[in-house]
Amino acid sequence: MGKNPLIILGADHAGFKIKEFIKRELLKKNYPLQDVGTFSLKRVDYPDYAEKLALEVRKNKQRKGILACGTGIGASIAANKIAGIRAALVSNSRDARLSIEHNNANVLVLGGRPFNKEETKRIIRIWLNSSFQGGRHQRRLKKISNLEKKYLGAVK
Ligand code: RB5
Repeated sequence: MGKNPLIILGADHAGFKIKEFIKRELLKKNYPLQDVGTFSLKRVDYPDYAEKLALEVRKNKQRKGILACGTGIGASIAANKIAGIRAALVSNSRDARLSIEHNNANVLVLGGRPFNKEETKRIIRIWLNSSFQGGRHQRRLKKISNLEKKYLGAVK
């Protein structure tokens, strides 16, 4: 399984349980993993973990991140502030597939409160096994990169 990409895992306290569940599932499948925390249910701030994860993911184009907070909303807003990150908040396997096929998302974001184990396994499996379609979608991703250049850091 040497071809599996490095998966970076991160979560706040409300995403801790789903992160640990995903970690166990991916370890069974021999994915190389890096866990940036949090490592307990003690209350923390999701932007800190979104940042830690995003900085690891964007080091290398092959890397992928799986990030969680209570709803997934705060973590996805925070991660998408970091240039080079395309974080997709997903709640079903169809969106998981399309977030790769159309958006080439490099971070999957999940809500951990509550979470369904079987649906989570399905989302992860499909997300990790889908392929970017390129073509017109590549043109749109280029426009997103242009938005980053134009606006990120521009708000005073
Ligand atoms: C933490 O209570 C919660 O606000 C956080 O996990 C997340 O859901 C924010 O969007």
